[in-house]
Amino acid sequence: MGFVELKNVCKRYDKTNKNAVTDFNLSIKEKEFIAFVGPSGCGKSTTLRMIAGFEEITGGELYIDGKKMNEIKPMDRGISMVFQNYALYPHMSVEKNISYGLKNMKVPADEIRKKVDWAIQVLGLEEYRNRKPKNLSGGQRQRVALGRAIVKDSKLFLMDEPLSNLDAKLRVSMRNEISKLHRTLGSTTIYVTHDQVEAMTMADRIVIMKDGVIQQTGAPMELYEHPVNKFVAGFIGSPQMNFYPVKLEGRAISFAGGGKVNLPEGIAEKLSPRKELIMGIRGEDIKFDGQNMELYGADKQSATIENTEIMGNENNLYFSFGGITTVARVSKYEVSEIGDTVEFVMVPHKMHFFDPETEETIAL
Ligand SMILES: Nc1ncnc2c1ncn2[C@@H]1O[C@H](COP(=O)(O)OP(=O)(O)OP(=O)(O)O)[C@@H](O)[C@H]1O
Ligand SMILES: [Mg+2]
Repeated sequence: MGFVELKNVCKRYDKTNKNAVTDFNLSIKEKEFIAFVGPSGCGKSTTLRMIAGFEEITGGELYIDGKKMNEIKPMDRGISMVFQNYALYPHMSVEKNISYGLKNMKVPADEIRKKVDWAIQVLGLEEYRNRKPKNLSGGQRQRVALGRAIVKDSKLFLMDEPLSNLDAKLRVSMRNEISKLHRTLGSTTIYVTHDQVEAMTMADRIVIMKDGVIQQTGAPMELYEHPVNKFVAGFIGSPQMNFYPVKLEGRAISFAGGGKVNLPEGIAEKLSPRKELIMGIRGEDIKFDGQNMELYGADKQSATIENTEIMGNENNLYFSFGGITTVARVSKYEVSEIGDTVEFVMVPHKMHFFDPETEETIAL
């Protein structure tokens, strides 16, 4: 049995006619860092709050460290939680807010001091140590909330969008701090975010949800390379995967507007007898360079650049192809101007195919 075990966990809120979470099954190993991702309203916070004990479990079972937890009070579950809507004690300073939980747990004063100093330093709160929450920015308050959680030696950390109020730079540095912290403390962590970059960079495994249902669970690159359906393919990765309605014609696929690509050996057999498909390809698998043009030149396409995003380290090129606005990611040395006609190839063995009805991935 895993350290945290959810078996067919369901949640139906009172006075609603639909589950917020349905048949959630997950086994989390000790020390694992798990991220729950998915769009707003998909049930991430609800699931986390059921694990914490702040929300009643309507159906199914929850085990932590081998003990059934359904009826156990939050404070007896041995967890630390950072809430999405954290509330700090308004009349207490930053330092007191962070140390309060430890005082309650009767931790010796010198140990409290050490832990609080460490948390304040890690979170970059030295300057604000004696300030009250009302005199802090949203991001600073969020760090205090994080500080309260990390000073406790819990075996299970639950974090609900703990970085959502931070500016971009601080987010990146805190992302690193939380990862480091996780390696140091070794606490099993469940981290909720709607930001797939956070999930990709921090988690050992990602659980991706939609409408209260797990779509896929796996290591970040597993989800990136082998999404089980179009939803996962579109959610993981930025810019989003390009999707085209295509027709299978013998050993080739054809696009609206006339483009055609020959498929590698054996692929067409796996796609047939379907005639219509959805093809997905990531921006980085659309190539403009000489080497790839030579390799796949038999199937080269052309388009007119409609927009460019110069990112500094790389560029995104936008153009219309197969009736779809396509985005290609190219190196910073491959610059194009709006209005340029460009030639490109789509790397055939990097294509993903989905059933147009079920939107499930077709195994190749
Ligand atoms: N107390 C409640 N009563 C009724 N419905 C609720 C309640 N809390 C949440 N819901 C509903 O349950 C669903 C899941 O909500 P939840 O807060 O878990 O989503 P989430 O994935 O955390 O979204 P977000 O990214 O916006 O925080 C939503 O449809 C929401 O409206
Ligand atoms: Mg939420």
